[in-house]
Amino acid sequence: MPNKKQMYDKGKVVIGLCILVALMTFPFWFNLGKAAPPPDPKLSEKAKAAKECVMPKAYMTSEHMQLLNEWRDTVVRDGKRIFVNSSGKKFNMSLSSTCLDCHTDKAEFCDKCHNYASVTPYCWDCHIDPKEAK
Ligand code: HEC
Ligand code: HEC
Ligand code: HEC
Repeated sequence: MPNKKQMYDKGKVVIGLCILVALMTFPFWFNLGKAAPPPDPKLSEKAKAAKECVMPKAYMTSEHMQLLNEWRDTVVRDGKRIFVNSSGKKFNMSLSSTCLDCHTDKAEFCDKCHNYASVTPYCWDCHIDPKEAK
């Protein structure tokens, strides 16, 4: 049976190891969000005129997938469709009717960046690009 002191030391060793691993991998995960600077995605005329996205740019660049997930869950699970952003502006939580209504050029904006980052969101199996649908 390990005595109390040994168990206490074991705990310390585990914590120490965790910190060590975190430190050693820091450069890796610290860069995850910004690895490989994306090409400059072109804003549509409509987006340029709007000046602002639904959330601040830095947040959008790194968190737009989470935001879309939140929107989807809120719409599908809770049946709520209105999103109010940090400055009190309201948006209809819709991928095609909101994001792509302002970012009218999916190919030049979303796709260009995704191709560069080698991500292929499967959303378009079901959701339409209003422009392609025309
Ligand atoms: C009313 C117009 C408008 C709507 C709606 C809109 N955006 Fe934006 N978006 C912009 C503008 C303008 C910028 C550039 C902001 C800036 O430069 O400060 C931008 C920036 C972004 C960026 C960052 C681009 C970069 O260069 O890093 C992403 C990603 C993005 N939007 C995705 C989305 C998604 C996803 C949605 C829907 C959830 C959405 N946008 C809805 C206007 C809009
Ligand atoms: C500035 C570059 C950039 C722009 C512009 C951009 N994306 Fe992304 N997007 C990314 C990156 C990088 C990822 C992968 C992030 C990750 O895996 O953590 C991603 C992931 C996603 C995902 C999740 C995909 C998955 O399979 O997990 C969705 C959905 C998405 N983007 C939608 C959009 C939409 C819609 C637009 C245009 C309105 C857009 N993005 C514009 C860079 C961008
Ligand atoms: C298998 C088909 C399918 C796929 C794939 C899919 N969705 Fe959806 N999505 C739906 C359906 C159905 C709804 C409910 C439509 C409604 O109630 O307006 C929905 C609703 C949403 C909504 C809220 C309503 C709207 O008009 O946009 C968002 C946001 C959304 N999905 C985002 C995404 C994103 C982001 C992806 C990819 C990562 C994705 N979806 C992939 C079928 C799909």
